Amino acid sequence: EKGGYDHFMIKEIHEEPKTVRDTLNPRIKNDKVDIEELGMTDEEIKAISRIRIVACGSAYHTGVTAKYVFEEMARIPVEVDIASEFRYRNPILQDNELVIAVSQSGETADTKEAVRMARAMGNMTLAIVNVVGSSIAREAEKVMYTWAGPEISVATTKAYSAQLIAFYLLAMKFAEVRGLLGEDEMKSLIQDLKKLPEQIEMLLGNKERIQKFANRFVAAKDVFFIGRGIDYAISLEGSLKLKEISYIHSEAYAAGELKHGTISLIEDNTLVAAVATQDNVYAKTVSNIVECKTRGAFILAVTTIGNEDIEKVADYVMYIPQTNRYFTNSLAIIPLQLFGYYVSVGKGFDVDHPRNLAKSVTVE
Ligand code: M6R
Repeated sequence: EKGGYDHFMIKEIHEEPKTVRDTLNPRIKNDKVDIEELGMTDEEIKAISRIRIVACGSAYHTGVTAKYVFEEMARIPVEVDIASEFRYRNPILQDNELVIAVSQSGETADTKEAVRMARAMGNMTLAIVNVVGSSIAREAEKVMYTWAGPEISVATTKAYSAQLIAFYLLAMKFAEVRGLLGEDEMKSLIQDLKKLPEQIEMLLGNKERIQKFANRFVAAKDVFFIGRGIDYAISLEGSLKLKEISYIHSEAYAAGELKHGTISLIEDNTLVAAVATQDNVYAKTVSNIVECKTRGAFILAVTTIGNEDIEKVADYVMYIPQTNRYFTNSLAIIPLQLFGYYVSVGKGFDVDHPRNLAKSVTVE
């Protein structure tokens, strides 16, 4: 049932090109985004005053990416909330605030309760969910399914990628309705989205190289992931992927925050994984890389083809193909998932069933 792969996790990573296609294709019609199941009128979309995303774990991380995308593309303010925090603090929702819950399983107790509360407050709720007919899908007013198929490995991979696609589509739709995305720009974004599956395929072709690299870090004690903007969002996920299956202590920081405390933890050969795909903050991240390197860090950089100058400051580089700046996380996550996977394999761990974790957290 693992289809010839050693673990479900690596099988599911290989399914990502298909997952992206399956989540994307049914919602693209005549060079336009058409999310039938959304069932929102243009007036309703224009009236959205704010978006509130509630989720846990990796699903929360896709929400962090979505915040950057929605705010920039559709100019709608976004708050991203950890569901277990939202539900216990008497949250304030605006009248026209759209609440989006994200969940692979559709059974996460805190996320489900957050949706119930939002509905009780009279807000429109939309669930981005993978499991058809799951509790969260039933609780929310509207559902947008991520067509990733069953995900077995506790560490999520393909569902995460599908959630990103769902968010891109929503942001594009909202931006178009609100008059912020012209026809040509829409076409070019859609073209870039359609290229993602083959670009992911290309990145998967490099897995042996990543395995070799990962084997050098099986004894690492601490790892830091850094990035700015969308690159920060992917750092959160890269860090969780590594720690949950390799049991290596790992943290993600907005790169600019390092010098407010964390940089004192950098020692000789501490691994710092720096994600630098965003042109507007590239130079800033590079200068953070230099600061870490000066203190002895070993730098792994994840950047876009064309940024070869980064080799002057990084010890090891993983390149991703060119795409629109909004979509880089869909590519940058692949080497980071592979890295986490191969470190865990290198340590001989039960990759699909990490200790203390359950695939769906149905109790608080
Ligand atoms: O089923 P959900 O998407 O609601 O689950 C949320 C988290 O429990 C989940 O993403 C968790 O963080 C994963 N183990 C991460 O790989």
